[in-house]
Amino acid sequence: MAVTLAFDVYGTLINTHGVVVALEKYVGSKAPAFSSTWREKQLEYSFRRGLMQNYEDFAHCTSNALDYTSSYYDAALTQFDKEKLLDAYRVLPAFDDVREGLVRAQKAGFRMFAFSNGSAATVETLLKHAGIREFFIGVVSVDEMKSFKPNPAVYSHFLRRAGAVGADAWLISSNPFDVIGAISAGMRAAWLKRSPDALFDPWGIEPTLTLSSLVDLDEQIAR
Ligand code: 2OP
Repeated sequence: MAVTLAFDVYGTLINTHGVVVALEKYVGSKAPAFSSTWREKQLEYSFRRGLMQNYEDFAHCTSNALDYTSSYYDAALTQFDKEKLLDAYRVLPAFDDVREGLVRAQKAGFRMFAFSNGSAATVETLLKHAGIREFFIGVVSVDEMKSFKPNPAVYSHFLRRAGAVGADAWLISSNPFDVIGAISAGMRAAWLKRSPDALFDPWGIEPTLTLSSLVDLDEQIAR
């Protein structure tokens, strides 16, 4: 059977820091730092909700994280401003290497899925807006399990939904916690090192392979 690829969405295909331009209007030069804190809190809230078994969907984590970050930076955002920022978050751009990487991977014959913490409807909108929905057989969301990455159950769920087994399925992700989660659940995983100074967590669990661009994917993964 052809090798299955599960593409992480936020931070891997879709650039969460695409919201910096919208943020500049509200927080000026603090926009990059604001964007990083917002993303870190969003993930922290998803981890905590997963552990507490107190599920609300990823958009809820994103919204709560925006409230926190707005207070942290003393940004005095109104409810209307926050709605505008959350609207921008629903139509974030893809990274520059994504289209070419997906074109090559599709030509190479991989079975490709998007696999995300985001709800299926949110991810469908993001991928369509970024013009890359056509490359994927389907979208698999953790929302179907009411939990979040890196709960091992969500990776098993992906394999069931994709009709794949771990030895023939790769997660492609820029998020080290996601790579470690997938490998721990029996999948292979490529870490997309999106910046030269990105660090991988020193847990003694290494990525099956490390990529610096999605364009290299089709040559690096044996079919
Ligand atoms: C995603 O699941 C981890 O945020 C990342 O799309």
